[in-house]
Amino acid sequence: MESLIKSENFLENILEKFLVETSGKLPAYIPELSKARPESFAISIVTVEGKILQAGDIKTFFTIQSIAKPLVHGLALETHGREKILNMVGLEPTGDSYNSIRLQPGSHRPYNPMVNAGALALSSLIPGENPELRFHTLQNLFERYIGHVPNFDEQVYQSEKKFGNHNRAMGYLMLNFKVLQGDVEEILDDYCKECSFLVNTTDLALIGATLANGGKNPLTQKQAIDPEYLADILSVMFTCGMYDFAGEWAYKVGIPAKSGVSGGILGVVPGKMGIGVYSPLLDSRGNSVRGIKVFQELAEILQFNIF
Ligand code: DON
Repeated sequence: MESLIKSENFLENILEKFLVETSGKLPAYIPELSKARPESFAISIVTVEGKILQAGDIKTFFTIQSIAKPLVHGLALETHGREKILNMVGLEPTGDSYNSIRLQPGSHRPYNPMVNAGALALSSLIPGENPELRFHTLQNLFERYIGHVPNFDEQVYQSEKKFGNHNRAMGYLMLNFKVLQGDVEEILDDYCKECSFLVNTTDLALIGATLANGGKNPLTQKQAIDPEYLADILSVMFTCGMYDFAGEWAYKVGIPAKSGVSGGILGVVPGKMGIGVYSPLLDSRGNSVRGIKVFQELAEILQFNIF
């Protein structure tokens, strides 16, 4: 693994191999996201020692979308403690799509923190008395992982909010069952904001490297998340991070990961590295087509499948 990572053209070769893969579709349900350049493609790796490898369109920024969910899960755990979070949101994969409106039978809790329902519930816990303070909390959260304050995409945020009736309906359903408390419109607003921060693949790889490195950012050496909660975050990413592809992902790639509907995938190889891939053409489950192929290739070459 070490010598491959040292070789110059390692990522360029993988990128070239999958350039021919042009299947998949841009997401249409958030009109702003359908404006992405379909051919964009980038791969980054950051090791726990802080070595950076990158190839392709690494200067292309995209909204973080659902890849914010593990970070917000960590924030909720640090702020409110494990017991409260476990009472609020379950730990079971759904086998359903990321925006499934199904809640757990009996308790009516969301199934897990990676699907929209669970992420909405945890977004109700973002510290801050008003929207500005909560926005600031989110900026700080991302800064701890990527070492700088990320830019924010106002157009995507507005588009998410305008076309967010599915998430809005889920919010009201959870309010009805008292598994969500507070003002649904405000919670939805915070959720849309957390999805709309801009990152590139190297930012994603650095988030992954921080999670792989006991929660300490390997470039800034600052602690981004209390190591006490790393296993909570990584285990849920592993079982639920790729939604209804999570089982096949565990089988073929075998590391904790999280995808986002803008086309990013974040992977964590515990103790070793973080990986970020971006290509906006998605499969029917909302995961990047090229992204999945790149991770499968990397798992084979670097032999990082934990099994
Ligand atoms: O809730 C939504 O629709 C999006 N803003 C985030 C969903 C997402 O990224 C799902 N991942 N594949």
